[in-house]
Amino acid sequence: MIPISKPFIGEAEKQAVLEVLDSGMLAQGPRTAKFEERFAAVCGVKHAVATSSGTTALHVALLANNIGEGDEVITTPFTFIASANSIIYVGARPVFVDIEAETFNINPALIEAAVTPRTKAILPVHLYGYPCDMDAILDIAARHRLVVIEDAAQAVSADYKGRRAGSFGTGCFSLYATKNVMCGEGGMITTDDDALAQRCRMIRSHGMQRRYYHDMLGYNFRMTDVHAAIGLAQMDRLDEFTARRRANAAYLNAHITSVITPKVRQGYGHVWHQYTVRLDKDRDREAAVKRLYDAGVGTGIFYPVPANKQAHLVKLGLGDVSLPVAECLADEVISLPVHPQLSQADLETIVAEVNKL
Ligand SMILES: Cc1ncc(COP(=O)(O)O)c(C=O)c1O
Repeated sequence: MIPISKPFIGEAEKQAVLEVLDSGMLAQGPRTAKFEERFAAVCGVKHAVATSSGTTALHVALLANNIGEGDEVITTPFTFIASANSIIYVGARPVFVDIEAETFNINPALIEAAVTPRTKAILPVHLYGYPCDMDAILDIAARHRLVVIEDAAQAVSADYKGRRAGSFGTGCFSLYATKNVMCGEGGMITTDDDALAQRCRMIRSHGMQRRYYHDMLGYNFRMTDVHAAIGLAQMDRLDEFTARRRANAAYLNAHITSVITPKVRQGYGHVWHQYTVRLDKDRDREAAVKRLYDAGVGTGIFYPVPANKQAHLVKLGLGDVSLPVAECLADEVISLPVHPQLSQADLETIVAEVNKL
C-alpha cells in the first residue's frame, strides 16, 4: 500500500531523542529554545514560540491577541476543525466565508461583506500548503483594523510573493506526525512582535515569567524537549522534503488526466502538504476511493464536512449559512500521496490507477 502520508524518522531523529533521554531533562528546555530559533529563521520572523500542538498554538495566538467573548473571527469552513474550535475556546464566534474553488482557500472577495462592528480578526488557513491571497487579506485587515492570525498548520516553508507563511500576522503551525516537518505532536507560533511573543510564552506556561509568580491566567501548553529534539532533526531536511513534495506534485500534475488537478498561481510557493484533486459531481467518490485502495493507493478526504456543518457548531447555531463552494468541494476532493518518501514506481502507480478511474 502506498500510504497517504509517511513520517520520516531517520537516525538523526532517533539519536536526538536518546540524547534527551540521557540528559535527564525531558520537559521544555534548551532543545525547545533551539527549535524555536531555527523555526523563526525559516519563517523570517523574530520569534517562534513552541507549543504542545497546532491547536494550542491557535488557542494561545487568539488569547494573546486579546480575542474573546463577543468577538467575531472571520475564517474558512473548509479546514480541519481546530481552526474553528480555537475560536470557540476563547469565547468568540467563527464567521464562515466561502472559499475559492481554484485554491481551496478563503475567498478574499467575500470577506469584507462579513465584517461587522464585532469583527476582531481574520483567520485564514493556508490549506494543503497553498498560501492564501495575503495582499487582499492584509488590505482588508488594515482598513478595518483587524488582527490577522494565519493558520499555517499545513504550510511550513510556503511562501507568498517571496514572504513565508506565518510572517504576515500571528502564524500558527502544527508539527503533528504527518505534517511536512513533524515531532509527533507539537505546534509553533510565529511573530515579529516582541510583546505578543512574550504574552504567548506566558499563556503557554501558566502565566509565568518568574517561577511560581503567575501574572495572568495561563495553561500548560508547553512542548517537551523530546519532541523538540525530533523537530530539530527534521529542520535539517526541511528544504529537501519540500523540494521532493514539489517534484512529486509536478509529476502528478503532468501525468494525471482523469480528474481536475490543482493549479498554482504565479507568486505562490505551494509546499504540497496535500496533493488534492477533484472528481466531477456526477462521479462516485466512495467508489473511486475503494478502487484506489484495492489497487494499493492510499487516499484521504480533507475534509468531508465543512466546519459549519459539524455537529457542535450546528448546535451553536453556526450551521445555517450558505457556503456553496465549500459544500461542493467537500463532496469532490480526494487527496493522493505526495510525501517525500514516494519512489518513482509509486508515482507511476498512482498516475496509472488514478487515470483508470
Ligand atoms: C489546518 C489545520 N489547523 C489546525 C490543525 C491543528 O493542529 P494539531 O493537530 O497539531 O493540533 C491542523 C492539524 O491537522 C490543521 O491541519
